[in-house]
This record gives sequence, C-alpha cells and structure tokens, in this order.
Amino acid sequence: MTDTERDLPADGSPWDSIVPRSGEEPPTDRRWGGPGSGPPVPVEDLHYELVGRPEPPPVPNGWYAIAASSDVAAGDVLSTIAVERELVVFRSADGAVGVLDAHCPHLGAHLGGGTVVGSCLRCPYHSWGFDVKGACVEIPYSDARIPARARAGRYPTVEQDGMILFWFHVGGLEPTYDVPLVEECQDPGFSDPYEFRIELVASLQDMAENNVDYTHFRFVHGRASLDASTSQFSTDGPFSTVIERFDDADLTFTRWTWGPGMALLRVPEFMTMHTATTPIDRRHVRLLWNFYFPPSTVALAAEIIDGVVGPHGLLADVPIWRDKVFRERPLLVRGDGPITEFRRWYAQFYEGR
Ligand code: FES
Ligand SMILES: [Fe+2]
Repeated sequence: MTDTERDLPADGSPWDSIVPRSGEEPPTDRRWGGPGSGPPVPVEDLHYELVGRPEPPPVPNGWYAIAASSDVAAGDVLSTIAVERELVVFRSADGAVGVLDAHCPHLGAHLGGGTVVGSCLRCPYHSWGFDVKGACVEIPYSDARIPARARAGRYPTVEQDGMILFWFHVGGLEPTYDVPLVEECQDPGFSDPYEFRIELVASLQDMAENNVDYTHFRFVHGRASLDASTSQFSTDGPFSTVIERFDDADLTFTRWTWGPGMALLRVPEFMTMHTATTPIDRRHVRLLWNFYFPPSTVALAAEIIDGVVGPHGLLADVPIWRDKVFRERPLLVRGDGPITEFRRWYAQFYEGR
C-alpha cells in the first residue's frame, strides 16, 4: 500500500481525504474554494459568476472616461478593457490623444505593446503607424499604397477637466451630445482634485439607479429616507438632474448626470464631486472620481471623502450591486423613488441595438 492509498478514505472521496497534517482544524467554509483548494476565500473578495443569472443590461451608448489625463504622458500608450472591448489609449508627441481598438488591422497584434513615434502609434509586430484617428499613415517596409481598410477601430475622444473621455456607440454613430465642463476644475477658489479610483462588480445601470432609489439611503446608508416631496428628478435630453434634500445633515445634493458615464454632484459650500463611471463589461465598472473642496471644508477633505466612499457610503452599496440581479420589471411601490422615470430617461442610451 502506498502512502497515497493509505490517506484516502474507504469511499475514495478526495474531499474527505483533506486531513490537516499540523493538527489544525480544516477550513470549515468549503463552499467556494472546493476540495483541496486551501483556506476559504473571503466572500467579499469573490468575483463570482452564477450560471442562470439574468444578464445585466448591455453597455449603454455614451461618453466615458478611459483614463485621467495625467495617466498618459506624451509618448505613452496604455492598454485597458472598457465597454466590453480591449482598447488602447496613446498620446502623440504633440499632445493629441487617440483611443483605438487594441488589435491591429494587419495581423492582429496588440497595439498596447507598440511605441509612440511622433504623431503615430507603431504596432509592435510590423511597425505600421496609426494616427490618433486610427488611420494607418505608414507601412515602413512596403511601397504599396496603404489600403483604405488599414484603420484601427477608433473612438471619438475629448480631453477635459483632467480626464480623457471617449465616445462609445454600439452602432458606430458619432457623438450625440457633449459633456459639460466642470467650473470647479478651473476655479482657483477650489482645491485641486482629490482623486478616488476603484473597480467594482456592478452593472452600470444598477449604480446609476441608486441615485434615485430614495429608500435605500435609509436601509443601506443609515440615513433618513428621502421624502419625494423634498427631492426631485428632471430630465433634459441626455442629461438628468436629481435634487435630494437630506434634512438629517442639513445638506442639499444636486446631481447632474451627463449620459450614462459622467456626472457632477454639487453640495454648495461643502464639496463638488466629478464622477466618471466606466463599464468594463456588463458586470464590472471602473470609477474615476475627483473631489473638489472650497476653503471652508478642505481641511475636512479626507473625512468627507470617507463619508462618500467609505463604509457608510459607496462601500455600503458595493455588496448589494455585486450580488443583485437587474429586474427588467421591478415590483415598485409608493415611496420607492422615481425609478420608472429614471429608466424611461436611461432607455435612450440603448438606441441602435
Ligand atoms: S500586426 Fe500590426 S503591423 Fe502587422
Ligand atoms: Fe447608495
């Protein structure tokens, strides 16, 4: 009999054969790791996918942040995943920014491994050069005419308020709106931005709906429920506005939402939050949020940011978003907040599918 055979139980189940050699108790929570996979994974660290869950909504059309301006210096190329696609962002020597599909139209190399030379991103494989609009402008080893189809998929790009934004439309249409500028970004009366970044397991629309889910403020964030009579939701084309009055803190939040990816939350005399929320795919989002403070509250910046993103703020929402499903037809009752109105407005970003 070998050692291995001796360690196996009579029924041969590998599960039961896990016997701690040091005498310590075996892990009691084996639900997630499976047999022999070591200590249990803390549930909060799991990024799990369950078979049979309804799919979250698709990625909506709109402007999204791909990076902070400071992430991409002249000559840099970054690889990322956003809007369910592999993308690269690069900055040419003269400061222009391009956002392109990552895979080269020639033989499919990943342009993220390429090099910026002058105004072009050169593919690492055969050195074709692409400008910021994705056009191939040089094939260094061939005197053939550059084929018209030698273009990398390209996304319209703007750079403003410290962020590089790109336009995504599933049908390839050009932008249908502009993202407004943030006054605080230029205003010397405000602090420099305090940046907050995180990636979460969440569907973009679930996150957005949270802002008009007045009741959850009480049960998730421990605040007074918002009274619909002191709060309002209004829309203007691709923009919507929520005004929420928190009597318990004597604060009024005004949140402008500019399409599905960008928003500005202003609390007068207190703080301004410029938020970019970018879908990585249908189930994951990347946040790039900038906080601006007036002189009266800048000393409290860390405390205020913790209130917004800490255990009583964003972090309280995180497990809800991670675990919930998106209900196409939610069962709403009086007091739920203007979720139906919000969805009617949001539906425009799924056009063209
Ligand atoms: S694969 Fe990019 S140049 Fe050949
Ligand atoms: Fe919330």
